[in-house]
Amino acid sequence: MNITENKTPPWAFVHVSDVHVGSPRSYRFQPAWNEHWRTARRQIQELNPPLVLVGGDLTRDGATHREELTGIRDDLAALGSECLVIPGNHEVGNKWSPDSSVAINSAYLRRYAAVFGPSEWSVVRGAGINRVRFTGIDAFKLGSGLPAEAELRSWLDRLEPDPACANHVWMIHPALFADRMEEPDFDHAVDRVPWYFGLNQADRFYLWDVIKRTGGNHVISGHIHCRRHLQVDGVHLHLAPATAFPQWGDRWADGDDTLGFLKFTVDAGVIHPEFVALAAYSDLVGYGPGGNPPVAGRDYAVAWQSPPFSPAEDEPSHSGG
Ligand SMILES: [Fe+2]
Repeated sequence: MNITENKTPPWAFVHVSDVHVGSPRSYRFQPAWNEHWRTARRQIQELNPPLVLVGGDLTRDGATHREELTGIRDDLAALGSECLVIPGNHEVGNKWSPDSSVAINSAYLRRYAAVFGPSEWSVVRGAGINRVRFTGIDAFKLGSGLPAEAELRSWLDRLEPDPACANHVWMIHPALFADRMEEPDFDHAVDRVPWYFGLNQADRFYLWDVIKRTGGNHVISGHIHCRRHLQVDGVHLHLAPATAFPQWGDRWADGDDTLGFLKFTVDAGVIHPEFVALAAYSDLVGYGPGGNPPVAGRDYAVAWQSPPFSPAEDEPSHSGG
């Protein structure tokens, strides 16, 4: 047997995030973002990876439109690759704050789990030296005060390192921080955007300890829609691009908000990232407001198709359990 035969073959996985697939039955819809997902989907199928990580914000408004959740779930099931999924704030609600009526809450979490299953998972893929552990969590549970936060912390506290894996890739939707690991908390009433994009310091430091304790050496996040690569304490932090629309392209000199997704090749026990730019952009024009508007006041009369969505009947409050 020669060296070539002994070599564990390389393999590749894809990370795609913030695809924001919406519906013309909604109070808002951007058909260009759906087209971008169709383009990215075709590009991923051409790569034919055995594994696709989907980093949250699969939908435009899946938190209140179950049909958007089931639509992208079924679309991913037909992709031809195994998909490991975590939710984003458009599935389970925004980073918690007392002044947001669409913050993370238990009813949104239950709705997501009923469609996609657990939002926390830790699995191993690949073989030999190219074996990789993947752990995904819904990081916005941290700091929410919900029962799900206690459950997540208990799950994280019980997570053990796996010495059989040379690499441990973590996947979260928000970034660990906006600009730097040590940054203090932003005031959500003053610096809303940087506050919104990252975890608060206490939650960040807690999660960072878990990541390092379990041998995490790559962390992939979404949410910001701007690609950036950093290294902190030897851990690679990959801020993922979006396929739907760009944000924060002017925040950092080394940030790039070009639309696309990430391909990671695992070779000789090392993970090599590569950016795959979206092959085509759509100029289709949609309707409705951006941002994260409250459920009350959403105008479904403007929907292009009927019957329109209606806000969920069990619209919860933060204290709704
Ligand atoms: Fe997003």
